[in-house]
Amino acid sequence: MNRRDAVKAGLALGVAAVAPGRALFAQQETLIQRKIPSSGESLPVIGIGTARRYDVAPGDPARAELREVLRQFAGAGGRVIDTAPSYGAAESVVGDLVADLGLRKSLFLATKVGARQKQEGLQQIEESFRNLRTQQIDCIAVHNLMNTAEHLALLREMKQAGRIRYFGISTSFDRQYAEFENVIRKEKLDFIQIDYALDNRDAGARIIPLAADRGAGVMVNLPFGRGRLLRAVQNRQLPEWAAEFDCRSWAQFFLKYIVSHPAVTCAIPGTAQTKYVPDNLGAARGRLPDARMRRRMEEFIDKV
Ligand SMILES: NC(=O)c1ccc[n+]([C@@H]2O[C@H](COP(=O)([O-])OP(=O)(O)OC[C@H]3O[C@@H](n4cnc5c(N)ncnc54)[C@H](OP(=O)(O)O)[C@@H]3O)[C@@H](O)[C@H]2O)c1
Repeated sequence: MNRRDAVKAGLALGVAAVAPGRALFAQQETLIQRKIPSSGESLPVIGIGTARRYDVAPGDPARAELREVLRQFAGAGGRVIDTAPSYGAAESVVGDLVADLGLRKSLFLATKVGARQKQEGLQQIEESFRNLRTQQIDCIAVHNLMNTAEHLALLREMKQAGRIRYFGISTSFDRQYAEFENVIRKEKLDFIQIDYALDNRDAGARIIPLAADRGAGVMVNLPFGRGRLLRAVQNRQLPEWAAEFDCRSWAQFFLKYIVSHPAVTCAIPGTAQTKYVPDNLGAARGRLPDARMRRRMEEFIDKV
């Protein structure tokens, strides 16, 4: 069996089965993928989040760097870009750059609706179509449970009309977890988006498994706790045992922890510098930590 056949055979069996060794993965082009439960469509386990760093005015030189980030990300097989109307200019920056690069078809664009009234939500969604310069948005999530019932009804209609492909809910506030769980139990959702990180593990114990039970995909926001985890280890060496799951940087350490949760579909680290692109996508290559290794990672971070 040649390398390509070996990779294909491994992928057919699922991520866990693709662990024959490092040499294979050093050359492997394909990023680890997970299926969206409601459709079976596959997505790479690492995407990009656009909060704060993509809120860049037209003409700002930072746009050139963001353009290159998106070009390299898509070129390496990345697909998921998460944004929101509340991220300042980020949504339109994504739309402009994706259109300019001709990348719309290869990307999975996720945004949110966060309005108090249904009519306001509808206007916001129409604005998202204009900002993202697309006829179809891949996923819209109700942002931070704002007017959830009415917006979910609206999103369901939009999915039926073919204007969006998936919908769900998002939060990053643990004070919203109880209500978030209620919505997951009550509604049929394609996706949830929630904060989960090596030092912020509550969602991994309850909400993420619940989403899986209910057939929803899981996007993980704040995978570095807005950079908090990376700052916590900045003067430390990566433990030698990180090599056992093909981890070469702290960013990969934290991302591999997240995407090795069996019910996680993808993580969306804030990625606005080209040097972060291969680093973060590296978490979607090679072996992932198993359950024993995940416990070791938790014990490690608890002592930092
Ligand atoms: N309620 C919600 O729906 C909700 C809430 C929060 C976030 N989100 C989504 O989740 C995404 C991720 O959250 P976030 O961007 O706030 O925080 P994050 O992903 O936890 O951390 C992002 C920060 O980590 C640093 N970083 C990224 N890759 C790195 C690498 N390879 N090496 C070193 N540093 C690296 C960057 O810092 P520098 O840029 O400073 O270098 C970046 O700003 C957001 O962008 C947004 O799309 C959704």
